[in-house]
Amino acid sequence: MRIVLIGPPGAGKGTQARMLQEHFGIPQIPTGDLLREAIKAGTSLGKQAQTYMDTGKLVPDQLVTAMVAERLERPDCEPGFLLDGFPRTIAQAEALSLHLDKTGQQIDCALSLAVPNLALIERLGGRWVCHNCNAMYHERFSPPQHPGQCDKCAGELYQRSDDTRETIIARLDVYERSTAPLIDFYEKNGCLRTVDGIGEPAEIFQRITDTLSAS
Ligand code: AP5
Repeated sequence: MRIVLIGPPGAGKGTQARMLQEHFGIPQIPTGDLLREAIKAGTSLGKQAQTYMDTGKLVPDQLVTAMVAERLERPDCEPGFLLDGFPRTIAQAEALSLHLDKTGQQIDCALSLAVPNLALIERLGGRWVCHNCNAMYHERFSPPQHPGQCDKCAGELYQRSDDTRETIIARLDVYERSTAPLIDFYEKNGCLRTVDGIGEPAEIFQRITDTLSAS
């Protein structure tokens, strides 16, 4: 199964993608995490991406598209994959279709997670992530047992540099202008499914798997 997860910042794409990866046994390809790893490793891609990410802008299409194309070539993507955070522009969606066409593949489902802006701002403002294993917490909805420390590996928790109020607002604006048009794009392709992203993560996961098995 080849799935694209679409949703504004904080919609729960990462949370749901991790659960879906386990459920379907297909790899999650989180472009935001891949770019943050490139920044940490000090690669040329990371250096180019950093300024865009810190200010809530999209990293240029050609950089992200090349990174994803390279990742999709790996053997673990043969049975399927789950793209989390890609595509984010019409140009990226078209490049993805072209890339898949070459091997006779296509996207089976573009899953759009719908969450109102107020909830997004609250989720992002309270997010904490483990430096070591990337586990995710929320200070109100899913707090760690000990503040600042990961329950799974005792790693140190941090707040992402793009989770400041100012950058959250900029990211929401970028989403509306550049990424929301993908909803129409995939609707015309006939593979769009929209799921209500409000509620407990387990409840939303159930909605997603019900939607996928009905498609
Ligand atoms: P990325 O890291 O992908 O960030 P994002 O799209 O802004 O999404 P987030 O990771 O912030 O949120 P999410 O929807 O995954 O929610 P999560 O599950 O974490 O991208 C970062 C940057 O990289 C971009 O701004 C851009 O610069 C660049 N980039 C990435 N891809 C790109 C591309 N294709 N093209 C160009 N540039 C690109 O949940 C958030 C919080 O809410 C957590 O604390 C979680 O615990 C909590 N939560 C989750 N679900 C629930 C729930 N049901 N109820 C309550 N709380 C919940």
